Amino acid sequence: TPAGAMAPLWPFILVAASEILAIDTPHPRNPALYRLTKQLLQKYHKAVRPVHHWTEATMVYLDVFVHAVLDVDAQNQKLKTSIWYHEVWDDEFLSWNPSMFDEIREISLPLSDIWAPDIIINEFVDIEGSPDLPYVYVNSSGTIKNSKPIQVVSACALETYAFPFDTHNCSLTFSSVLHTVQDVDLAFLRSKENTKHDKKEFLNDSEWELLSVSPTYNILQSSAGDFAQIRFNVVIRRRPLVYIVSLLIPSIFLMLVDLGSFYLPPTCRARIVFKTSVLVGYTVFRVNMSDEMPRSALSTPLIGVFFTVCMALLVISLFTSILLVRLLHDEWSIGQERPLLCFQGDTDADGPRVDPRAQLAGIAEPSICQEHQVQPGTLQEVWLELKSIGTYFQTWEQADQQEVKWLALLERFDRLLFQAYTIVLGLYTVTLSSLWALWGSS
Ligand SMILES: *[C@@H]1O[C@H](CO)[C@@H](O)[C@H](O)[C@H]1NC(C)=O
Ligand SMILES: *[C@@H]1O[C@H](CO)[C@@H](O)[C@H](O)[C@H]1NC(C)=O
Ligand SMILES: *[C@@H]1O[C@H](CO)[C@@H](O)[C@H](O)[C@H]1NC(C)=O
Repeated sequence: TPAGAMAPLWPFILVAASEILAIDTPHPRNPALYRLTKQLLQKYHKAVRPVHHWTEATMVYLDVFVHAVLDVDAQNQKLKTSIWYHEVWDDEFLSWNPSMFDEIREISLPLSDIWAPDIIINEFVDIEGSPDLPYVYVNSSGTIKNSKPIQVVSACALETYAFPFDTHNCSLTFSSVLHTVQDVDLAFLRSKENTKHDKKEFLNDSEWELLSVSPTYNILQSSAGDFAQIRFNVVIRRRPLVYIVSLLIPSIFLMLVDLGSFYLPPTCRARIVFKTSVLVGYTVFRVNMSDEMPRSALSTPLIGVFFTVCMALLVISLFTSILLVRLLHDEWSIGQERPLLCFQGDTDADGPRVDPRAQLAGIAEPSICQEHQVQPGTLQEVWLELKSIGTYFQTWEQADQQEVKWLALLERFDRLLFQAYTIVLGLYTVTLSSLWALWGSS
């Protein structure tokens, strides 16, 4: 019979079946851990907020450690920081008696299997590079600890007018997206004072220095309900040394050289060459500076404003010099050409040019034609000739006097520019010093 034929095979069949069954039976290294995890998650519904009485709010305790300031983008008003974020809440459905489970007091559970608060940063414009950590720690009384590093790109009003002595105050506001304060309430994990002055986690060697992280709790009232919010005001300030060395000191030198150019007489043509070189220097410096200076649509750094004002004064005084040289050139073109005229000695040695300042003082030569008018006219032709010469001299004298007036006006204007330049330079120095003092006291 077939059954009779199978009989010798039965022991083998049984062994094979028992081996298949053995694979199916649980055989973990730590049975207590396995039992506990299974028991906790078996009847757990992650859709339900973990409270026994629905009127109770779930308290979420928050904490933030600022780890690094990665980027301060004044042009786009964005701050990129790296923070360590901790949150702790109680889950009333995840508690156990440690004595029944081999004295296990704390286990890790997958975050995706349990209820978690939906807390976000309100200012964030981009969360990048934040790893998705899959586990959270739960202890036997149901307290859940979740922590993760986040790179936050947050919107922040960045004022750069005091650059490079600028301090920024940016906030990171944490709140639940959906849950009102009746369902999810927030609280601090550490005392406010501890949070404020804790800089142990901060990377200290960057351009930015962390001054404080002060937390505040408030309730946002809106038409959708009342929401609990926790705001961390992160105050950072720039370390200005590198900018002092590479921007401020060279800019002051350049302004001093520019100031020195006013000491060349305005009628001197070498002054134009000199001022043009300074202008080229300014332009090169501005190109160099624009890479280093923060660009912002809201406010321009004060040093940029000063620089533009100084450049404007330089250009105006350059124009004044050009006008002066042009007027003098008209005068000289009657005589012979002079290449560069800088010092009084040169003019005296060179020819009969009258010093404009002396002419301004009212020392006018007596008119030649008046002398001729007194003479009685005997020879008609000579008289006519003399008269024409006389009128020529008269018009020449008038034009010359007008030129002298122009010269005097332009010279006075140049002196005015010099004074304005000195005032601007003084203001620049005083403003920078006071900004530095303010920076030091913040
Ligand atoms: C669980 O953690 C919370 C917060 O750290 C603590 O207050 C509580 O005592 C812990 N429970 C046990 C049983 O250790
Ligand atoms: C930062 O700004 C907030 C308001 O936005 C203000 O309450 C806080 O005092 C400021 N902190 C500093 C240090 O200026
Ligand atoms: C951080 O820098 C400041 C000033 O630059 C210094 O006073 C402080 O001791 C530094 N802290 C650490 C932890 O290096």
